[in-house]
Amino acid sequence: MGKLSGKIAVVTGGTTGIGLSTARLFAAEGAKVVVTGRNAETLGAAREELKGVAEVVQSDAGDPAQVRKLFEEIGRQYSRIDVLFLNAGIAKFAPFADSPEALFDETIRVNLKGPFLALQAALPYLNKGASVIVNTTVGTDRAIAGASVYSASKAALAALARGAAVELASRGIRVNAVQPGPITTPIFGKMDLTADQRDAFAKRITETLPLGRFGSPDEVARAALFLASDDSAFVTGHELSVDGGMLAA
Ligand SMILES: NC(=O)c1ccc[n+]([C@@H]2O[C@H](COP(=O)([O-])OP(=O)(O)OC[C@H]3O[C@@H](n4cnc5c(N)ncnc54)[C@H](OP(=O)(O)O)[C@@H]3O)[C@@H](O)[C@H]2O)c1
Repeated sequence: MGKLSGKIAVVTGGTTGIGLSTARLFAAEGAKVVVTGRNAETLGAAREELKGVAEVVQSDAGDPAQVRKLFEEIGRQYSRIDVLFLNAGIAKFAPFADSPEALFDETIRVNLKGPFLALQAALPYLNKGASVIVNTTVGTDRAIAGASVYSASKAALAALARGAAVELASRGIRVNAVQPGPITTPIFGKMDLTADQRDAFAKRITETLPLGRFGSPDEVARAALFLASDDSAFVTGHELSVDGGMLAA
């Protein structure tokens, strides 16, 4: 029997990268999985890839009306949510001095307001024993040049998750975070960097990593599975680093 047998799991931003790997793993462990995304092209590709594995729904994670509608529909269809992985996020890097206001607003909208809205909208359907996981970054604990706005959005998200963990504990709902280091996903291709700049960034980061390599989406998915399943039944308010030793070094 799978670790999530019979559970209903929602993965926001599950069309690529960490979310896609996690959706596959949760389904393999017996969960019924709903994933979301925003971009029509990646949604289409994910629908093909997850055929028979997960339901793929278009929903902008930072849009209040769309988030409410998403959870109302999930509530109507499944009547409960056992696992909620608030993973949708964007990483737009820029030097602090040159970070435009629009970058700040969009980053906060998707990375912070989105999970806030989603957790509130999901609350009526989260049962005793439910597990909520947010996706933060090592940038919440370690300065990353060029990522101050991104890291700030995720640090606030980590604080939101800790507060929710304490308040929701009496309802039997656990709230934790996975805190990835550098993971090979399409997110780096979405930054406004040339291939050379991306390679230089990757090289610089890799040199600081005790394990000497980027992680894979599946390695984060396995940490998310631990937090989603009853294996972590006594763990709440925790940020679980999956970072190749970056924060320890
Ligand atoms: N990769 C890393 O090194 C790393 C490190 C630390 C933390 N993280 C976090 O991990 C999470 C997943 O990132 P990833 O690396 O797997 O990157 P990714 O492949 O770009 O995945 C991001 C996912 O979020 C979705 N998404 C983005 N904006 C959205 C919106 N407004 N509404 C709905 N869905 C949206 C994307 O869907 P669309 O294609 O439709 O936009 C995609 O499914 C993010 O929160 C990121 O901050 C990543």
